[in-house]
Amino acid sequence: MKCDSEMYKRNRWVIGNWKMNSSLVANATLLEAIVAARDESSGVGASRVAVCAPFPYLTQLQRTLGGTAIAYGAQDVSEHTSGAYTGQVSAAMLGEFGATIVLVGHSERRLYNAETSALVAAKAAAAVAAGLTPVICVGETLAERESGLAEATVARQLAPCAALMASSPKNIVIAYEPVWAIGTGKTASPAEAQAMHAFIRSELAKLSAAAADISVLYGGSVKAANARELFSQSDIDGGLIGGASLIAEDFLAIVSAA
Ligand code: 13P
Repeated sequence: MKCDSEMYKRNRWVIGNWKMNSSLVANATLLEAIVAARDESSGVGASRVAVCAPFPYLTQLQRTLGGTAIAYGAQDVSEHTSGAYTGQVSAAMLGEFGATIVLVGHSERRLYNAETSALVAAKAAAAVAAGLTPVICVGETLAERESGLAEATVARQLAPCAALMASSPKNIVIAYEPVWAIGTGKTASPAEAQAMHAFIRSELAKLSAAAADISVLYGGSVKAANARELFSQSDIDGGLIGGASLIAEDFLAIVSAA
């Protein structure tokens, strides 16, 4: 566990990304368990906890999590504020449902929806403009890592967010999610993850005078069994959790580890 004064400048987060999973009934059971544990455990209360759900569940999140210490949000947002953009959802709309965070640039959206880093930066800026905290996801593929291009890839993904990082460093969160570790059960080792997080922090320092305030989370097969070691690395400020965030016991164990 970090204990230097540096960590207190940055928020520690554990964020669940439900992806396109769950149902109203399953959500109710999961959320009830998370809320109950959060109320009861001071350990759980130490980190910021959030869940990012599919859009249709926002009313359920508002009803269940409104007034609790658990934040919630969506997994994508439009770069536009309003207009003829069929199928898109604006940041202001998310805010109307009490959402305070939103994922942008998840590798699954970069892959399946052809999102570019420039588009991701525009989405992050739209989120900040509406008062939301974007969680900007970056990460290299296995081929990029094996070609020695991991750092260059991540730097290229971060670069279009430079203006936002300079203007609003306290309103953004970065999540490093190596694509090869997502849903594969293959986690970056704590040393590998720490090395990339240190690199990201050095890149952020080039882009923002307040880089030390930006939380950088790790994501990719985080489980109760590996969370503590990952989160104890000096540049890892918590996690973005996929599969394990759908099981209350597992998610809460990860929250405790943070
Ligand atoms: P898993 O935890 O299932 O590997 O997913 C990570 C992720 O993509 C979170 O956004």
